[in-house]
Amino acid sequence: MNTVELITKKRDGGELSREEIRYLVKGFTEGSIPDYQMSAFLMAVYFQGMSREETVWLTQEMKVSGDMADLSRIPGLKIDKHSTGGVGDKTTLIIGPLAAACGVPVAKMSGRGLGFTGGTVDKLEAIPGFKTSLPEEEFFAQVEGCGISVIGQTAHIAPADKKIYALRDVTATVENLSLITSSIMSKKLASGSDGILLDVKCGSGAFMKSEEDARALAEMMVDIGRADGKKMMAMITDMSQPLGNAVGNALEVREAIEVLRGQGPADITELSVELAGRMVFMGGCASSPEEGIAKAGAALESGAGLAKFREFVSGQGGDPAVADDLSLLPLSGLSRTVTASRDGFIAGIDAMTIGLASQHTGAGRQTKEDSIDHGAGILLHHKCGDQIRAGEALMTLYSDKADKLDLAAAEAEKAVQIGDEAPALPPLIHAVIE
Ligand code: URA
Repeated sequence: MNTVELITKKRDGGELSREEIRYLVKGFTEGSIPDYQMSAFLMAVYFQGMSREETVWLTQEMKVSGDMADLSRIPGLKIDKHSTGGVGDKTTLIIGPLAAACGVPVAKMSGRGLGFTGGTVDKLEAIPGFKTSLPEEEFFAQVEGCGISVIGQTAHIAPADKKIYALRDVTATVENLSLITSSIMSKKLASGSDGILLDVKCGSGAFMKSEEDARALAEMMVDIGRADGKKMMAMITDMSQPLGNAVGNALEVREAIEVLRGQGPADITELSVELAGRMVFMGGCASSPEEGIAKAGAALESGAGLAKFREFVSGQGGDPAVADDLSLLPLSGLSRTVTASRDGFIAGIDAMTIGLASQHTGAGRQTKEDSIDHGAGILLHHKCGDQIRAGEALMTLYSDKADKLDLAAAEAEKAVQIGDEAPALPPLIHAVIE
């Protein structure tokens, strides 16, 4: 096979065979196809698109480019959840324990945050002592004993995606549905679960800004997952303002615990119960999504979810006392309050701008090598639709560095829009694909 011929074929709108896609993925991952040829191919895909079959094959070839987790020795249906990423999205910390408390084994590999969105692994590492890297045997023992383990995704899962994504990032070829689908799904399919619940975010703080684009991505990922034999479901949920009130690692752990105590903000509580309930259904522990949602709600109310959280944290070396004493979580020493400039209603809190401001506090990374300040971030005191008075506190920012706080506060102020009328709010859950 000849790489130039394959680039030409795609450039001219042709459809590649499975063998041709395998040749490209394997050749690029192993180093025989150079960056410049893969870049040209990716740009041809960007303009010409890929058929459903090509997308299935690309995902499959990327999936088998590295290790494939085998979770078959854990009894029961293992259900994973993937969020396309957002600001203040700490649902994994809540729904993992809730689903596990309802009997669904959760064996999850999660990522770190980069840019304006956070990652579950960074949030978990804000808990004193918590280990996100476990030897395989300990990971299995934790899932078998406690019902839930969450660890960092290793570099050996879908290495083709790692290489291809790095190239897409610098060649303006990220925004293509087939490429996004194959990137996300190759990693998820290699992680070994029996089913995957997707939380596809839409709005300013999301990858997909419009509901239409989010739906197209969700439908494609569901289709590609089913083609691999997985149980699939997707929810399209709002990310026009941050989810919950807390943005930043330890602040988000604190809020997750508050939700599990039944004292969390309404939006993140509702979404967590909806997501966990669908995992309970997909995992065979409820006969309908509605019954699953009722079971997840009951696990929240009874405190079973919080008890499972303690067990989960303790099993991975963390201090379970954080569930009862939030002051054990780190909090940066300096703070700054942003106040309302006028009376009115909060018409918008731009999620992406808050995400960037949180990154400035030290809670997020600009590059993969950056270290993060677990105690930094932003706590919102109001959400969209709230009526406020001039001078009232809108949010508090935390950081260990005064200059970072200045920059972050200037950015955060830009996020808030105040209007004269109560605004029409978008729904929290836009759609469910079952
Ligand atoms: N997240 C991924 O993992 N891959 C993409 O292509 C986009 C978002």
